[in-house]
This record gives sequence, C-alpha cells and structure tokens, in this order.
Amino acid sequence: MLINSRGKKFLVRDFNSDFHTQFGFFRKDDLKKKSGSRILSNTKSEFTIFEPCFIDLYRKIKRGAQIIPLKDIGAIIAETGINSKSRVVDAGSGSGALACFLANIAKEVVTYEIREDFIKIVEHNIDFLNLKNIKIKNKNIYGGIDEKNADLITLDLPEPWKVLENAKKALKVGGFLVSYSPTIPQVMDFVDKARELNDFVYVKTSEIIEREWEIEERKVRPKSQPMGHSGFMTFIRKI
Ligand SMILES: C[S@@+](CC[C@H](N)C(=O)[O-])C[C@H]1O[C@@H](n2cnc3c(N)ncnc32)[C@H](O)[C@@H]1O
Repeated sequence: MLINSRGKKFLVRDFNSDFHTQFGFFRKDDLKKKSGSRILSNTKSEFTIFEPCFIDLYRKIKRGAQIIPLKDIGAIIAETGINSKSRVVDAGSGSGALACFLANIAKEVVTYEIREDFIKIVEHNIDFLNLKNIKIKNKNIYGGIDEKNADLITLDLPEPWKVLENAKKALKVGGFLVSYSPTIPQVMDFVDKARELNDFVYVKTSEIIEREWEIEERKVRPKSQPMGHSGFMTFIRKI
C-alpha cells in the first residue's frame, strides 16, 4: 500500500506493472521495495510503502447493500465485548461488512442472506479480506437459525422481531442480540415483542452521532458535511 504525507492512500494489487495515479506513476521496481521505503512518482510525488492491515483492506470492500458504518460497528463490539472465543450469527449479510468485521475479532461468524446477488459480493469480500472463519447461508433467517449457543446475534433486517423466537433457541443464556434499524417504529415493534416473550432482558437503544473536525492551521472546526442518520441499535440479552 502507498500513503503520502496528506494521508492519501492507494492499494497496489499488481506488483508486476507500473502503478498509475493522479500523482503520476510509480515504477514497478519501486513498488517491490520493503515497508517503510519512500518512493517518488515520475512527477516527484513522495509516497511511503506499507503493509495494509485489516482496516485498510476493509475500507476497499465491495458494496451492494447499504453497510453499517464503522462508528456503529465499534459500538456493537464494545457493548457486547465479543472476543476470539465468541460465536456469532448475523443476518442479513448485505455486503458482508458487519459480518466480516466481526469475523476479524470473533472465533466464527455465520451470516444469513436471501439474495444470491448479495451472496456473491459477500464471497468476494471474504476472499479479499482473507477470512477463514465465516460461513454464508443462503437462507431466510425468519424461518429458523441452525446454530446453538451463540454469544451474539446481529440483525440488520426489515422485520427483526420475526427472528426473536428463533434467536431464543440459538443464543446462549446471557448472549446478546443486537438489532440495527433505521426507523423508530421498527425499534418499537422489536422491543415490544422481546418484552412479550419474557426470555430477553432489554439493555438499551442508542444512536451514535459522530462529528468529524477539520484541523487546518487555524481553521479548526466541525466538517461541514451534514450529519446523516444511519441507524438505531437495540441491545437485548437472553435470560
Ligand atoms: C441493509 S442489508 C445488511 C447490510 C449488512 N449489515 C452490512 O453491513 O453489509 C440487509 C440485508 O438483509 C437481507 N435480508 C432481508 N430479509 C432477510 C431474511 N429474512 N433473511 C436473511 N436475509 C435477509 C437483504 O437481502 C439485505 O441484503
């Protein structure tokens, strides 16, 4: 991967050809130099070579369905405390963004998706990120969950309350279910149904608002892009 002093990055996939950018082109022999080497393009732009880590590659995944933003993925990981022993079930896969991120942390992830076109995108992303502990199921999760003793179930679906009965059987006691929904009526229906079942304890519903700032000499202020809404996260636990 190449990065310059302004943070502009390029992922180099082919080391046997020169690499062309808007900063000029880099010679293939320079691209093969070791991590930390500083190389110049033909127009004298300086870039540093480094080995991409998970997040560098993750930012380049293919997108089909709308993905969950990083600020929300961070909250799901922090609130549920998943780790390298955790077993996770996810639905729907969409682009596989959340499923792949969780697979980078957890022991294993099984992700359910009904659309075959999205499954192709998820397969591509799993391969691109070189993840070995994630399995895609072309199944409707409203019809049932095959896994048992899951530590975490994540849902990013139109009708998450339809999964509650199945989640009850698939989660271990104390396991978390996180439902991600763009609208409050979905949150209401989900929480009402969870309370009716008496097998879950409601933890919380939250929305994360991230405000990025620009720091440019004395121009120090919030970035002017509008703060868009992504989704509400509802956390419940099986008891
Ligand atoms: C918004 S996307 C999920 C995005 C995903 N969380 C990500 O980060 O890439 C919702 C996905 O759920 C899938 N879906 C909808 N209903 C489903 C169901 N009953 N079972 C499995 N997948 C379903 C849709 O096809 C769609 O791909």
